Amino acid sequence: MKSIAVLTSGGDAPGMNAAVRAVVRTGVAHGLNVWGVYQGYSGLIEGNFKRIGTRDVGSIIQRGGTILGSARCAEFQTEEGRELAIRRLRGAGIEGLIVIGGNGSQTGSHALSQMGYPVVGVASTIDNDLFGSDVTIGVDTALNVALNAIDNLKVTASSHRRALLVEVMGRQCGYLALMCGVAGGAEAIVLPEVETSPEQVAEKIQNAYERGKPHAIVVVAEGAKFNAEGLCKAFQKKRLLIGYEFRSTVLGYVLRGAAPTCADRLLGTRLGCAAVEQIAAGNKNVLVGMSHGEVITTPLDEVIRGRKPLDPWYLSVADLLAH
Ligand code: F6P
Repeated sequence: MKSIAVLTSGGDAPGMNAAVRAVVRTGVAHGLNVWGVYQGYSGLIEGNFKRIGTRDVGSIIQRGGTILGSARCAEFQTEEGRELAIRRLRGAGIEGLIVIGGNGSQTGSHALSQMGYPVVGVASTIDNDLFGSDVTIGVDTALNVALNAIDNLKVTASSHRRALLVEVMGRQCGYLALMCGVAGGAEAIVLPEVETSPEQVAEKIQNAYERGKPHAIVVVAEGAKFNAEGLCKAFQKKRLLIGYEFRSTVLGYVLRGAAPTCADRLLGTRLGCAAVEQIAAGNKNVLVGMSHGEVITTPLDEVIRGRKPLDPWYLSVADLLAH
C-alpha cells in the first residue's frame, strides 16, 4: 500500500485533530502518501481531497473541531454516491481510507467495505455510544464542559433556591447525562434508557426541597422521552409539586466545541496511530477502539450491529448518591 486517505465525519468531537495529526505523521513514518479529505463523505464524492504532510498538521493537537471539516451527507447513503466516492479514491491512487467518526460514520465505513474498499474506522463521538470502544474521542472533553456548566448552575441555583434542569446531548444514548449527572452531584438524572415520568422527577426534586437542599440539579439527556422542555411543560401543565422555582438550560453544541482535554488528545493520538498500523499491515474493515486500556479492533459489521449498554454500577448508584 502506498497511499491512504483520512476523513472526519458526523458531529465533530474534541480530539479529532489529534487523531488526524497522528494518522498523518504515522502514515508518513510508514512511507505512505497521506491524503486529507475535506467535509467528510461529501468531500469524497466531490473529490475534495489533497495530499497532506507532517507540517500541515502542526499545532492542531490542542484545537477543538476538525481541520478537515465534517458533514452529514445524504448522497453517501445511496449506492451511486458510494460508487462515485470509490471511483474518486481509486482515481487518485488511494488504496485505503481511515474514517474518524461515530455510529453514522462507521455505518458509512461498513457500506464502503461491503463494496470492496478497505477502510479502518476510528471511534470518535461525544456520545460514547459506539460499540467496539469503551471510550470514544471527544467524550471526556464534552463531560468536562458539561460538569463545568453544572457546577456554575449549582451556584446560581443555590443563590435563588431554584431547581435547574440541564439538558445535554447524546442522541438516543444517556451516557453523557448519566456520567456528568453522577460527577456533578445531580439530584435527578433523566435518561432515554430508563423510562421516567415527570411525576417521578418532580418527586425527587420535592424530596430535595424538603430535605433542605438549597438547589436541585436535574440532568436530562436530549433523547429522553421527556427532555428539558417536555419536563418544564409537564411541571406547569400538571401543576406538579416541586417546591423550588425552576429554570432550564440546554447545553447543546457547547459540549462539542471545546479544546480537547489531555485524555482526548492522548486517545486521538493513540487511535490515530493504531489505525495507520492496521491499514499498513493489511488489516481492513475494522474499527480501532479501546478496551480496558488497550487498543482493540472490532469488525465493522459487529460495530454497526452492536449496542453498548450504560454502566449498570453508575446507574445503580445515581439515586442513592443524590441523597
Ligand atoms: O452525535 C453527536 C451529536 O452531537 C449528538 O449528541 C447530537 O444529537 C447530534 O450530534 C447533533 O447533530 P447535528 O450536528 O447534525 O445537529
